[in-house]
This record gives sequence, C-alpha cells and structure tokens, in this order.
Amino acid sequence: MPKGIKIGYVGVGRYLPEMRLTNAHLEKIVDTSDEWIVQRTGIRERRVLGEGEDLVTMATGAAREAINNAGINADQIECIHVGVNTHMQFPSLACMVQNELNIPNASSSDISAGCASFVFCVEEVFNRMVTDWTLYGKKSYALAIGADALSTVTDWTNRSTCILFGDAAGAVVIGPVESGEILSTFTRTQGKYRNLLYLDPFLDRLIKDPETGDVNLSKRTNYPFLRMEGTKVFPVAVRSMISDIKTVVNNYNKINGSAITVNDIEYAIPHQANLRIVSAVADGLKLSKENVYSDGVVKYGNTSSASIPIGYVDQLGKRPGALVVDVSFGAGFASGAILRRDPKAKV
Ligand code: ACO
Repeated sequence: MPKGIKIGYVGVGRYLPEMRLTNAHLEKIVDTSDEWIVQRTGIRERRVLGEGEDLVTMATGAAREAINNAGINADQIECIHVGVNTHMQFPSLACMVQNELNIPNASSSDISAGCASFVFCVEEVFNRMVTDWTLYGKKSYALAIGADALSTVTDWTNRSTCILFGDAAGAVVIGPVESGEILSTFTRTQGKYRNLLYLDPFLDRLIKDPETGDVNLSKRTNYPFLRMEGTKVFPVAVRSMISDIKTVVNNYNKINGSAITVNDIEYAIPHQANLRIVSAVADGLKLSKENVYSDGVVKYGNTSSASIPIGYVDQLGKRPGALVVDVSFGAGFASGAILRRDPKAKV
C-alpha cells in the first residue's frame, strides 16, 4: 500500500425485517425442536421478509442508514457493489439501490460469491479506490452492501436447512479515513466443492425446435431451492476460514514489510452460519468468546451475504484502533477475509 493512503469504513447501516421466525414457529412447520436447533446451531430466531418488503427494500434501507451514518450526501457515492445470491432478476440489485437513493453517476453491479459475497464486494471497492487514489489522485466514496433473502429459496419441508437461514441487509460506506483503515483483503473460490452447497438451476432451454416453432412453456414454473450437505460443508468451512485469516495477515506483511501474526488479532467477525463454526474460528485464533462476534447467528440466523455487515452495526467503534479480522465462507466454496483497524469515529 503506498504511504499515506488510508481507506476504511466511514459509515455502517443495516436493515432487518420486523417479522420474527422463532424456533417455536419452526416446530409448527417441520419435525424439529428448539432444543435441537439451539444445541446444533445456536440459532434462536431469524427475521424473514414481511408484506411489502423485498431485497430492494432491505438493501436500500441498509445503504441509506450507512450514508446517514457517514454524514455524506448520496450523490458523493461513485461506486455501488452489492453482494447477493438471491436477486434472480436484472438489472442488478445495485442498480435498483442506485435508483432508490437517487445516486446519479455511480458504477453499480452485483457480486455473487455465496455467503462471502460481501467480503468480495469490499475487496473490489477497496482495490478500485486504491487505484483511483494512486493513479489519478482521486479520493471517493463507495457503497459495499451485503443483502440476501434466503427465505425465498428455502425448502420449507427440509428440516436440515430451513432452520438455518434468515433475511437481512448490511452496508458500509467506504472512503478516505484518518484511522480505522482496511489493511489487506483476500478472496478465493474452491469450485470443486460446488455440489455441496448450491441453488437449483432454474433456467431451461425453452426453444425445442426452431423448425416447428415448438417452445417448452411448461418449464416456466421451475422453482429453485437451496441444497446443502451440511455435515460435509462444516469441516471445510472451518479449515478455509482459519487458512484465509492466515493468508490475509501474510498479505499485509508482504505489502508492508511488517511481521504481525494471527495472535495479534484482537477481534473477529466471522460469517454467522452456526455457533459451532464461530467457536471453531475463535479456537483457531486463540481468542476468547468475548472477542468473537456471535450475537448475529443467535438473533438473526445465517443471513448469508448480510451476516458480517449487520454485525458491524453492533460492533464498530467499540475498540478504536484494534486489529480486527472479518472472515467469511459460503457456496462455491467462496471464502475470504478483511484485515482492518477498527474506526474511532461515530460508528
Ligand atoms: N431438527 C431435528 N433433527 C434434525 C434436524 C432438525 N432441524 N435437522 C436434521 N436433523 C436430524 C437428521 O435427520 C439426523 O438424524 P439421523 O441421525 O436420524 O439421520 C440428525 O439430526 C443429524 O443430522 P446432521 O445433518 O448430521 O446434523 P449436524 O449435526 O451436522 O447439523 C447442520 C446440521 C446444523 C446443518 C450442520 O451440519 C452445519 O451447520 N453445517 C455447516 C453448514 C454451514 O457451515 N454453512 C455455512 C456456509 S454456507 C452458508 O452459509 C449458506
């Protein structure tokens, strides 16, 4: 990183639907129990979209709160990336947010990298801003958003998966900072695992025979569901997250000639998939429970792309200057980490 360049979070926000789905509610939907869910996952309740809410409502709500928190005007935003897996339409969710917030000239697009999508967004935005600053001397603001509505692709007859997920969006405004800067990022995918966690394909070949004009309209009702082999995902998730934390730390050392280690990390925000995964990350980093964020999984379940940025609203600003790592993992398997200093500011 060229000297003098400091880019970090200047505002955070989130949107959580009002509607609560507790473990007691789930007992009415599938053959399960509060005891089983809490013991295996730590989840007590999750939020799901209510009447009149959708991904646009959530992503826009989170972004608006982040912009207000940053104390800037929406028209200062020059780039919007949304990490999302459940926006199965176009234009991109980022373009829809741009329209809702009247942001005139931003470059907007979505990134789909499973539950790690938000981390991928932050990396994209960060790299772009570093380039703008170093090549053109331009300091700018950008939005990185994580939003998902997994309740819309959950198979509500499958007790192994339907107990896990919730809907939410979280957002950060990224810009020039005096302190609380992003130090390094790392992302990767392991495509060989694509069949352990995926969304059903839902697009089919509709033109059967151009000669006869035969069009297969019956295919239009294909509805996609999330599929996961949870027990196989679990160990890879833990291994990958620990390994990605080591890599993001090494990346920082390579760029800066420093010699920090994972033992210097003071706080971690891991993807909130399951309390047991969160504990495994804590063990891997030798951090106490108090220094690893876990409220999200208990109160909101696995909100996929949103799980890290919704945690920011609870946590940012509590440890000014602390060395923090965010780490995520999901379908792909896509995973990655952000190493940063916690901001001092109002957040
Ligand atoms: N209620 C009661 N019993 C259940 C339920 C339920 N909701 N779900 C499964 N069971 C039963 C199973 O049928 C099985 O019964 P059997 O032994 O009679 O066959 C038994 O409980 C054990 O099932 P497992 O699937 O082996 O349970 P496990 O302890 O692995 O927990 C879980 C399942 C919670 C999904 C776990 O595997 C997990 O968290 N995996 C990781 C998922 C993950 O990390 N995802 C993160 C990345 S992906 C993303 O975020 C989208």
